[in-house]
Amino acid sequence: MLMEINPAAVTDRAEELKREFPILARRIGDKRLVYLDNAATSQKPEAVLQAMDDYYRLYNANVHRGVHTLSEEATALYEQARVRIARLLHAPSEKQIVFTRGTTESINLVANAWGRANLKPGDEVLITEMEHHSNIVPWQILRDQIGFTLRYIPLGLDGLLDVSDLDSLINERTKLVSFIHVSNVLGTINPAAELIAAAHAVGAKVLLDGAQSVPHMPVDVQALDVDFLAFSGHKMCGPTGSGALYAKRELLEAMPPWMGGGDMIREVKMSASKWNAVPYKFEAGTPSIAEAVGLGAAAEYLSALGMDWINAHERALVGYAYERLGQVEGLRILGPGPDQRSGLISFTVDEIHPHDLSAILDQTGVAVRAGHHCAQPIHDRFGIPASARASLYFYNTTEDIDQLVSGLEHAVQIFAW
Ligand code: ALA
Repeated sequence: MLMEINPAAVTDRAEELKREFPILARRIGDKRLVYLDNAATSQKPEAVLQAMDDYYRLYNANVHRGVHTLSEEATALYEQARVRIARLLHAPSEKQIVFTRGTTESINLVANAWGRANLKPGDEVLITEMEHHSNIVPWQILRDQIGFTLRYIPLGLDGLLDVSDLDSLINERTKLVSFIHVSNVLGTINPAAELIAAAHAVGAKVLLDGAQSVPHMPVDVQALDVDFLAFSGHKMCGPTGSGALYAKRELLEAMPPWMGGGDMIREVKMSASKWNAVPYKFEAGTPSIAEAVGLGAAAEYLSALGMDWINAHERALVGYAYERLGQVEGLRILGPGPDQRSGLISFTVDEIHPHDLSAILDQTGVAVRAGHHCAQPIHDRFGIPASARASLYFYNTTEDIDQLVSGLEHAVQIFAW
C-alpha cells in the first residue's frame, strides 16, 4: 500500500533547498541536472562550503598542538564539530565521537582495535548477506588472520533479512553482530532494535553501519543502545574524506589504539609509549581538520532542517518514485515495497545493461549509479551482475522523478529498435 502524498508539499520546500546547493543549478548539456546518485555521495550546501572556505581563509593551523591564536581557533572549530555530530546522534558525550575518513575507516577501526583485542578462534562474527563491501572485507581479512568464524544472516528475495533462524545465528559464540542499517542497494530499513536486543541478550556487541541511515533519518544511539555506529560525512552534505565512529565510552577506553603517531599519545619514551585519552587515542597524526569542520557544519544544517522532516520527505518521494517507475515497461525494482524502504530504488530494465541505461539517462540530465554499488553479494543473490540505482535526498522533487521516468522511457524506446 502506497503512502498518501501531496506532491506539491513534497516539492515546494525541496525546490527552495535546491537553491542552497550551487552545483544543482548546473546543466548537463542543455538539460536541467537531476542528481539522483545521493547514496554514492550527496551534494554540498553553501553552509558547508562557507564553513570550509572560512576555515582555510581565516583559521588554518594544526590542532591540539599550538598555543598561538590560529591553532587555538582551529582546535575550537574542530572540537565544536565533534559536539555538533554528538548532538545529531544524541550521543551522551562528544568524547565518544572519533573522526575518521568515513564508514569504511570506522569499520576497519573497530575490526583492528576492538576485533584484534577481543576475537579468537571459535568466536563468531555475524554479518548479513545484505552488506556492502566495507562491512564484509574487513571481517574476512581479520578472520583469515585470527581464525574466528564469519556467519551471515540470509537475504530473502523479497529484499528483507531472513531472521527466522536468528536464535541459532546469534548464540553464545557470537561476539559481534555488524549490519547495515539501510541497504545501499535494496533500500531496506533493517530491524535494528530487534537485532541489537538479540545480540545483547547473548552478550555480543553490535556495530551498526549507518552510511545510508544517518544522512536520511533520525538515528539516536542511546535509544538504539548500539555499541558502535559508523557513518560517512560525504553522504550527509559534508565533504569527502570525513566521517566518524560513535562508540560506547567503556569500549573506547578498553580498546587499544589502531594507528600510532602524533596526537594519539600522552607520552613517548624510547622504551614504550602511553596513550592519550579517548577519542584522541584513535586520531593519530594531523587529522582532516577542514573536513571535520565541514562535517560539523553539515550536522548543524541537517539538524536545523530536522531529520524527521528529511525522512518524511524522502519516504513520500520514494513512494511516488516507486509508483512512477512501476509504469516503465520492463522495469523491475529490487527490494521491498515503499513502506519498508528508505529513499533509494535499484532496478533493472529488461535486457538493457545498467551502464547503457545510465549513459542514456545522463544525456537527459539525470545522474544515477550503475553497477554493483560496492555490494556484489546482493547482486549474486538476485542472479544479476549489476543494477541501476536512483537514490534521493531532501532536495529532490517529484519533477526530478518525472525527468528520470521520461529518460527511462526514452531508453526503452531506443532499445526497442
Ligand atoms: N557505498 C557507496 C554506494 O552505495 C559508494 O554508492
